[in-house]
Order: sequence, then C-alpha cells, then structure tokens
Amino acid sequence: MNNRPSWFVLLGALLILSCTPRTSSPPDEDGHALWLRDGEASRTALATQAGDERLIILNHWDNPDGTVERGYAGHSIWQWDETSDSALQVYREYARACTSVGIRATVLNNVNAKPLILSSEWLHKVAIIADALRSEGMRVFLAVNFATPMALGELRTADPLDPEVVSWWQRKVDEIYSLIPDFGGFLVKANSEGQPGPMDFGRTHADGANLLADALAPHGGIVMWRAFVYAPDSPDRACQAYEEFMPLDGQFRDNVILQVKNGPIDFQPREPLSPLLFSMKHTRVMPELQITQEYLGESIHTVFLASQWSEYFARLSEVRSDGAVSFPAIAGVANIGNSINWCGSDMAQANWYAFGRLASNPSLTPAQIAREWLSLTFTDDPRFVEPMTDLLLRSYEAAVDYMMPMGLHHLFAGGHHYGPEPWCNPPGWRRDWTPPYYHQADAQGIGFDRTLSGSGAVAQYGDSLCAVYNNPLTCPEAYLLWFHHLPWTFTRPDWTSIDGSSQNLWQRLCMHYDRGVAEAQSFVDIWRAMRPYVDDVRWQRQALRFERQALDAVWWRDACLLYFQSFNGLPLPDGAPAPQHTLEELMHFHLDMDNYTAADPTRLP
Ligand code: GCU
Repeated sequence: MNNRPSWFVLLGALLILSCTPRTSSPPDEDGHALWLRDGEASRTALATQAGDERLIILNHWDNPDGTVERGYAGHSIWQWDETSDSALQVYREYARACTSVGIRATVLNNVNAKPLILSSEWLHKVAIIADALRSEGMRVFLAVNFATPMALGELRTADPLDPEVVSWWQRKVDEIYSLIPDFGGFLVKANSEGQPGPMDFGRTHADGANLLADALAPHGGIVMWRAFVYAPDSPDRACQAYEEFMPLDGQFRDNVILQVKNGPIDFQPREPLSPLLFSMKHTRVMPELQITQEYLGESIHTVFLASQWSEYFARLSEVRSDGAVSFPAIAGVANIGNSINWCGSDMAQANWYAFGRLASNPSLTPAQIAREWLSLTFTDDPRFVEPMTDLLLRSYEAAVDYMMPMGLHHLFAGGHHYGPEPWCNPPGWRRDWTPPYYHQADAQGIGFDRTLSGSGAVAQYGDSLCAVYNNPLTCPEAYLLWFHHLPWTFTRPDWTSIDGSSQNLWQRLCMHYDRGVAEAQSFVDIWRAMRPYVDDVRWQRQALRFERQALDAVWWRDACLLYFQSFNGLPLPDGAPAPQHTLEELMHFHLDMDNYTAADPTRLP
C-alpha cells in the first residue's frame, strides 16, 4: 500500500501548526502579576535562581492618603483601613510576584515620610500588611521622619544626642517589634528637600543614623540612611552627596547602610556612577535604582531598564577593587499601583521583573531577562519573543537619544518631569533645580564643566578614571556633556556621519536626537507586526502607548534642538527632518500636573 499521502497530511498539519501564531491569552480579570499566570512551575524555577544573601528591597513612595509620589499606576496598593480578604489577597499576590524574582523585602511608605506612620494606630495597620506579606516570605520596613518624636507631640526636640530622644526611639522600636516580630528596619531621608534631620540640631548624619541603629540593633533591625542630599553651599550639585558623606566614612554603626542613588544627581536617563558607591571604605553602602519611570516617560514610554542597570553594574565592577558587584542590599523605587496591570502599562512590568532578576544575579544579560519575561508574560512563540526582545534591548538607548544624549541631563519640565523644558527657569527656584543650570548652553557651546579646571567633580573618580573623563577626546561620548562644556564646533576623530564626513558637536547631537526619533517610530511598526501573537486587550493598550512614545520623541527632539539652535544659530545637518513643532508653541505648552499624577496621553503636544 502506498502510504505517501498520510506523510503529506502529517507534514502539512505540522506546517500549519508551526505557522499558527501562539497568541497570548488575555489577562486575568484582575490583570495581575502576569509573569506568574502560567502557574507555580515558573515561579519556583525563578525563585530558586534568585540570590539568597543580598537584601533586595522595593521602596514604595506611597503616602498614607493613597497617593503615590512619582507613581504612574494609579493609587497605592496598600489599603490601610481595609482588612477584607480581597485586600489581603492583593498583598499576597504582590508578594508572590516579588519573591518569584528574589525581592524579599519592601518599604511600605514614601521617603518623604509622614510622622503619622509611627503612631500606635498606624503601626497596627502596618502589622496587618506585614502579616499578609510574611505569609509569602516578605519582610516589611518603614520610611521614617526624623522629627517624629516632636511631630507626634511627644517631645520638644528630636536631637539625636538628647537622652529623652534616645529612649523615645527605643520605646517606639520595641513597640514595633511587639507587633511585627520580623520587622526589617528604617529607611531615612534626612536633611534633604525639606525633610528634617540631625543637622537641624547641629549634629551629623552619622549621629542621626546611629541613634536609630542603636534602637534597632537588639532586634536585628537595620537603618538604610539615604545619601540623596543637597549641601546648599556647594557650587556643583553633582559633588554634594560626596562632600557631605565622605568625611563621615567609618562613623556609622555596623547595622547602618548608606543608600546611594546610582548616579550623583537624580535618576537621570544616563549618569556616571555616584562616586560614593566605590569611595566609602569603612561604611556599608547600597545602590538605589528607580524602577518607576520618573524621568523616562512614566508608564507611557517603553524603556527596558535592565539595559541601564546592567551597564551600571558593569561600571561598578570595573571601579571596585574587588571587581565584584557585592553589596549587602539593593533598593528599587517601585512602579507599582492599583492599576489593572499593577504598573500602569503592560510593558512597565518588565522593569519590576528585571529589577529582581538582575539584583539577584547581576551577571544575567538584559537579553536573557527580556526573553524570560516576554515568554512568561505573553507567549513563547519565537516570532514574538525575538523581535520584542530586540525592541526592549534598543529601548533604553533610544530614550537616551531622544531625551538627553551625550551626557546632557535634567532638561525636564519642572516638578512633574514629563516632557522637555530645557528653558525652564521660574523665578525664585533653586538654580540646581533648573535645566539651564545643567546644560549651560550659550552662543559658544554647551555642557557642564566638571573637569579639574571646572567644578572638579571629576576628581571624585580616582586617578585613572579622572584622567579619562577629564579629557574631552577620551571621555566616553555618553558622558561628554556631563563633564565638559564644549564649543558647538568641537569635534573628535571618532565622529563621522554615514557618508564618512566628520561631525562637529552640534551635528553629532542632532544625529543622536534623530536616531532616537527613528527608533521610537520603528517600535510602533514592530508592535503592529506583533498583533497575531498578543491578545486584543493588551495589544490595543500598548499600541496607544507606542504611538504616544513616538510622538513624544519628536516633541523632545524638536524642543531641545530648536531651543539650542536659538543660542547657536546653526542649521540642522543636511538630510535632518524638519521640526514638526515651533519653539514658541512648545514653550507655551504646560502640563498642569503634580508629582502624584500620571500624564494624560491625550493632552500632550
Ligand atoms: C527626586 C524626586 C522626588 C523624590 C526625591 C527623593 O527629587 O523628584 O519626588 O522625593 O527624588 O528621592 O527623595
């Protein structure tokens, strides 16, 4: 008997099957923790790979009234007055998602802490959340206001060396542990942006941190003391944390960890390392990363932060004498809220996931993490996973290019930080809150001079890095305008355009902005091609966001280039696209928005 036809049928069926897109299933009704939706197996596999030693901790900037500072995913997930099963269920789901990627601790409240959180009434509310999280293997910490003993009306001072203050904190800590036996400790923002601190009483950061550390020590608790401060008398904002903390190296108790933002300023799209992270020799330090996209397009832009963080870990292992990324702890400012998909956008979940994975194992590559997350969250069909991995891997550089390439920083709209306002300079503002302080653009050139003949910040990087950064011909292009103020006509041998002709600084800057715009526009097309693999609900939600990101990229490029052109009067390079906006139109555009609200994509230029 000739059985050839049945082989054909089989082959045909296989062909059809392999061509049929494996489409993601629509999100659960609550839309939650999507990388876990395929069940326990993936959770266990990930959890066993997660680091056990290091404290990997989320920092929620959640306020008692339910708002979230720099939160773009709705309101806080903590329902302080709610003890219903459904509220507790959300906490447990959150904890399952966190622990699955190695995050085993969380600070529940904002670093701009309300003293109220330490009142007995609120500590009972904290204990309810702590119980729910503990059942899934997570510990709770609190951010505290240094002046709480005064603010709660119990003492007339918060001076860390005052015996009454010492015993107040001891009693308060004992009370906390009686309610939450595995309480982790405190996170403190002191003497920064209006927060009280030991310097209000003529004492040092070390005095303040040690006061709390001594109260926590008998219970095994720790203090994470933030280095995000402003020394009002220092002329360069980038030098201030270093100048304030280096003299205190060695004065902190063993259970204090100095929590240092990754860069010297404030979660800019790209910053060089904060020198404090490798200069403190006798103090425990931990990096603070920002998962929420305060400066990277909120939950509208897709920016896969694993790329930023692994670049940052690579720099750290280069500068640390032990060559390792060995920290006792790592904090990530959370991007989580009560929105349908926890993070305000389906893509932003990738950054929550990536934070845990990378903090547990800094040698994982962004590509590995992207593939894992895409497969677990959507579908493992390679026709989806491969192009989307490529998109995610390009997304960080694209955002840097269309926002602030070549080391530019802080060109954001004041306050809410959504969109470009390189001109923003309201009367009465601190100079170091305004973009002109950072870009220093004038008719001759652009950039902040932090060389040895400028602010001298470059000297904080040790001899060999200082030599590299101090020379504009050897300074990495990515940090050039961070460390140098250069003429618009400055050029380097490695700057050539596609046709091989040499580029000057202005032309190079234009090239970066144009490249960023082209990348953002290509993301729209890639996502369109992904339609067969993604359920309709999530495909539609995300399509709107990619379209808005591409429009925002043009907004950024036009605002920055037209504004800088108003100083240098130079034409755009040959072949550069014409601007789609006028400078006047953009300078008149204002988003009426506070620091607790997400931008409304329908109201942008
Ligand atoms: C930034 C941010 C603030 C935040 C602060 C901090 O300045 O814009 O909202 O409070 O950082 O990290 O303390």
